Amino acid sequence: MQSILGIETSCDETGVAVFDPERGLVADLVYTQADHAAYGGVVPELASRDHVRKLPGMIKQALDQAGLRASDLAGVAYTAGPGLAGALLVGASVGVGLAQAAAVPAIAVHHMEGHLLSPLLEERPPDFPFVALLVSGGHTMLVEVGGVGRYRLLGETLDDAAGEAFDKTARLLGLGFPGGPDVARLAESGNPDRFDFPRPMVNRPGLDFSFSGLKTHTRQLVARSTPDDHADIAAGFERAVVDTLVIKCRRALRETRFDTLVIAGGVSANQRLRQALDQALPGKVYYPRPALCTDNGAMIAHAGWYRRKEGSRDGQIAVRPRWALEELGAV
Ligand code: KG4
Ligand code: ZN
Repeated sequence: MQSILGIETSCDETGVAVFDPERGLVADLVYTQADHAAYGGVVPELASRDHVRKLPGMIKQALDQAGLRASDLAGVAYTAGPGLAGALLVGASVGVGLAQAAAVPAIAVHHMEGHLLSPLLEERPPDFPFVALLVSGGHTMLVEVGGVGRYRLLGETLDDAAGEAFDKTARLLGLGFPGGPDVARLAESGNPDRFDFPRPMVNRPGLDFSFSGLKTHTRQLVARSTPDDHADIAAGFERAVVDTLVIKCRRALRETRFDTLVIAGGVSANQRLRQALDQALPGKVYYPRPALCTDNGAMIAHAGWYRRKEGSRDGQIAVRPRWALEELGAV
C-alpha cells in the first residue's frame, strides 16, 4: 500500500485527504471555519479549537472513503509549517499520534511545498524545471524549481502578501473574509480603468513584490468615494495586482530561461489572474483546479508522498511556524 493520509491545519481550513500514487485522490475533505468572518481575520485560538473539534471525524471519514484502516497507510503527512503555531500543533499532534498508533511513519510537510507541487495532481502536469508563483494569504514568492525539493527563491514580497492585499481591500470595501473571492465577484461589475492604481515595483529591476502601497492607495480612494464606486475600485485593484504578477512572472521566465510557469496558492484561484497569464504566456501556464488552490489536505498528502522516505517513527512532534522553503532538500 502506498496511500498517504494528509492533514492540513496551518490556518483556518481543516483539510484531510488520502493520496494514492496509482489511484490519485481517494478522499479529499476540507472544512472551512466560518467563525473568523465576524472578526475580519483569522483568530488563532478559535482556529486551533476548531481543528481539534473537526479532525477526528474527518480522519475517520477520509479513511472510510478510501476503504483503508490507518495501519494500511504508507504514512501520515501533516503540515509542520509555516503557519499559526497553535493550529499547526493540533495537526502535528493528531498526525504523529495516529502514525504511532498505526505503526506507520509520520511525515512533516512544508505547507508551501504542498502548494508548489499541487499542479502535479492534475491531468496535465507540468514538467520540471519551472518557475512557480506562490500567491497565498501569507506568502507571495517566485521560485525557481529544478525538481522536488530543489528550490531557489527568485523574489518575494517585501511587505503584504497578495492574498493579504485582497483581504485588506475587502475589509475597506465592507466585504467578507477571506476577501479574495468577494473582491473578484464585485470586480466583475466594475470598470478597471476608471481609477488609476499604481503597479508597485514594476519599474525597478528584480523579482520582489510590494503590495502595501496599493493598499494605502485603495484606502485613500475609498475614503473619498461612495459605495457606488466600490465595484470600479475592486476592478481597478484586482487589475493592478494581476498586472504586477504577470509582469514579474514574465521577467522570471526570461531570467531563468525556463518556459513553464506554475501558479499555486489561494490567489491562483483568481480567474482574471489565470486569464491574464494564459494570454501573456499561451500554453506555458499550469495551475491546480480551484479547490486545490486554497488550503487543503490533498496537497499535503501528495507532497508527503514525495517526502515519504523522510518519515519518522520516533513520535517527535515538531512544528515550524516560520520555515523557509529553501531549507528543504531534494528528494
Ligand atoms: O493558500 P490559502 O488558502 O491560505 C494561505 O496559505 O494563506 O490562501 C488564502 C488567500 C486569502 O488571502 C484569499 O483572500 C485568497 O487566497 N484568495 C483569492 C481568491 N480565492 C482566495 N484571492 C483572489 N481571488 C480569488 N478568487
Ligand atoms: Zn496556503
